[in-house]
Amino acid sequence: MGGFKLAIDGPAGSGKSTISSLLAKKLGWTHIDTGAMYRAVTLYALNNKVNLEDETSYKFLENIKIEYKNNRIYIDNVDVSEDIRNEQINKYVSLVSSFSYVRKKLVEIQKETIQNGNIIMDGRDIGTVVIPEADLKLFLTAHVEERAKRRHKEQKQKGDVHEINQVIEEIKLRDSKDSTRKESPLRKASDAIEFDTTNYTIDQVVDKIIELIKSKEQ
Ligand code: DC
Repeated sequence: MGGFKLAIDGPAGSGKSTISSLLAKKLGWTHIDTGAMYRAVTLYALNNKVNLEDETSYKFLENIKIEYKNNRIYIDNVDVSEDIRNEQINKYVSLVSSFSYVRKKLVEIQKETIQNGNIIMDGRDIGTVVIPEADLKLFLTAHVEERAKRRHKEQKQKGDVHEINQVIEEIKLRDSKDSTRKESPLRKASDAIEFDTTNYTIDQVVDKIIELIKSKEQ
């Protein structure tokens, strides 16, 4: 498959989505946010009141269409990009994404989405499972307090008021669930470059990544 494949993994709030989408805009590349797909499955499961604890509940994935196109996420052609970002989804998405059946289905869709051309895919298992052959793998991290501060700021901009301590606890809980699950847990691929973004601005991180891409392209 032609084109540059950039895999970006990291924990909740490490800036993956913001950075990937800015990079895609700057470079004119395609960005695929795989977290949005796990969130869409969670939304569908909640709306249809299935038993979230039971892996067989997710058989509905045989009958629905999940698509990520032009930075938007669709379930059966309905754009759910706004509906997947809320506290309820944050609370259940780690559980939903822990099931191997769900992961298998979404990884299939993700692999199909990687067409020719330059792409940036972000998630938790991109460098390890979805694109092990990626041209460049990055593992973004930041101290938990900094990640919570970023999330808190985003929430405030949307008019959601939360205590910062509550945000820290929520992120810690999600980190722990995402890193300890049995099925493809969050971990750095052995050939990924780790980048601690705590003391960098988003633009600085983006510029640094562009330098890394250029050095790989040469
Ligand atoms: O990146 P995010 O916060 O939107 O991701 C939501 C959840 O989806 C995250 O808590 C873990 C899961 N996820 C995953 O297991 N694998 C991925 N490739 C992407 C996300």
